Amino acid sequence: MLRPLRRLSRPPRRAAATGPGRRLLLSTPIFYVNGPPHIGHLYSALLADALHRHRLLRGAGPGRLSTGTDEHGLKIQQAAAEAGTSPPELCERVSSLFHQALTHAAVSFTDFTRTSEPRHQRAVHHFWGALRDGGALYKGSYEGWYCTPEECFLPESQLAERRDAQGRPCKVSLETGHQVHWTKEDNYMFRLSAFQDPLRKWLRDNPQAISPHPFYQRVLHWLEEDLPDLSVSRERSRLQWGIPVPSDSTQTIYVWVDALVNYLSVVGYPETHSEWWPAVHHVVGKDILKFHAVYWPALLMAAGLAPPKRILVHSHWTVRGQKMSKSLGNVIDPFACIGQYTVDGFRYFLLRQGVPERDCDYYDEKVVKVVNSELADALGGLLNRSTALSINPSNTYPCFSESCFPKVLDYRETKGMGRASAEDYEFVASVASLPLQVANYFEGFQIYKALECIALCVRQTNSFFQRHRPWKLNRKDPAEQLWLDTIIHITLECLRVYGTLLQPVIPHTADRLLSRLAVEPEERGLSSLTFLARYNGKSCPFEGRQLGPDTGILFHRLEKSRQLQIETKKL
Ligand code: MSP
Repeated sequence: MLRPLRRLSRPPRRAAATGPGRRLLLSTPIFYVNGPPHIGHLYSALLADALHRHRLLRGAGPGRLSTGTDEHGLKIQQAAAEAGTSPPELCERVSSLFHQALTHAAVSFTDFTRTSEPRHQRAVHHFWGALRDGGALYKGSYEGWYCTPEECFLPESQLAERRDAQGRPCKVSLETGHQVHWTKEDNYMFRLSAFQDPLRKWLRDNPQAISPHPFYQRVLHWLEEDLPDLSVSRERSRLQWGIPVPSDSTQTIYVWVDALVNYLSVVGYPETHSEWWPAVHHVVGKDILKFHAVYWPALLMAAGLAPPKRILVHSHWTVRGQKMSKSLGNVIDPFACIGQYTVDGFRYFLLRQGVPERDCDYYDEKVVKVVNSELADALGGLLNRSTALSINPSNTYPCFSESCFPKVLDYRETKGMGRASAEDYEFVASVASLPLQVANYFEGFQIYKALECIALCVRQTNSFFQRHRPWKLNRKDPAEQLWLDTIIHITLECLRVYGTLLQPVIPHTADRLLSRLAVEPEERGLSSLTFLARYNGKSCPFEGRQLGPDTGILFHRLEKSRQLQIETKKL
């Protein structure tokens, strides 16, 4: 049955380079439709969304953000049967729930792929043809333990002995605890083993290909171990809900091959994909790392395409220390969270507290605490104080005075020169370096660190404001008035920086903040973000400008929530 391997690693097609000014496709995983969206799904999508929005802000070149739903496979077939409905009906309903949840959370996706769409099926058929023509497939008899919830075969080393609900001994996946079933079938096999060396070389040559670094090392470690061939089809008699193997109607294409090809079908594979491919960054959860960092690059190489440029991996959310699961009834509903904490409040929480390197714990009190202290009190309070009519009766962006805040080479030598202290110079320097720091953290897939730096600067700005007590200054005294204006000018400049940098994370709040500061839409990109131009002897386009209308509190304080778990209802 084994066919000789004709050609496994064709040279990749023209690579569209990434980097400034170049195109980039960012992707979220496509979501299984056997259950409604939860905050883990939303987290994957928000990470990709924030990266996509930050790129646009940088003017980094054309970008797309793809997402969608993964609709085939045994798990969906079974979920539909359990829900007493047909797979197409279930897919339609749950796919639209995902579409709604992402839209509701302001995820700015440009493409939403459903694997049941004809254009995707066409791409999968073509991809299969490329694998077959390249000699990467053969038909063989395969047997092993299949885990339906994970949609994969597991080796003995990843299994444990348990008892099922009736007390009978059974085997379960070590990692997820799901039961596995012995399966013996005639399948098409993919020569994954032949790609061990090409995969290692790809990773050695591209140490940035998988971030954060511990996940890169994990993949390298997998590639040290045995890499058996992969079963890439199932007997049609067992799995009808899937894409048939071209010219073999007795077999259905393995759901993971089908799903991974969504990243190609979205860019017009097999006709127009080379405009984008392989300028692609995939955001994925750690549970699906092997599929993206081992199987997918190998499949791509076998089909004559280059691996994606980067795979950005995140860890999981637990809920009060426990894994989120339907059986524990602790699955957190993103619709309820957004209802309770607002779109921006919840986006901010997940991106500020989610650390890709490690699992993070969710509980309602934490959301309230973080969002209230950083968005409502620190950021909102700062805007409120610095734009209050009592302190800025003309409601304008006041002027900066060099005599109060003279340019110095060494801020420790400021004595007697103006009104600013060494601490002020230090603070202004830290805000000036913020945009670059934030950009570096976004580039390094550490959005939480970018937010931490912004939060720190907001705190420093509040201290600056507080330290100089502008409300105590006598406006009738021209010297005091100059200093008062300078304090407000600096504070508004800081707020403008924070508003601009926070757009990828809290788009609505950032918009309100920037509108209040009268920053025009075309002035909201990173290229317009010259902080405190006047300090550097340049002109400031904002000076003297009338501020935007006062639309009230920037961010309302949150209250402790009611129950936000998804009710265990039938789909
Ligand atoms: N359908 C596959 C992906 C195919 S991509 C070609 C799949 N779907 S999923 O719906 O189960 O998961 C989608 C994403 O949600 C994954 O990135 C996964 O890691 C993420 N999360 C699922 N549970 C999660 C948490 N508890 N916490 C954070 N993210 C988690 O896998």
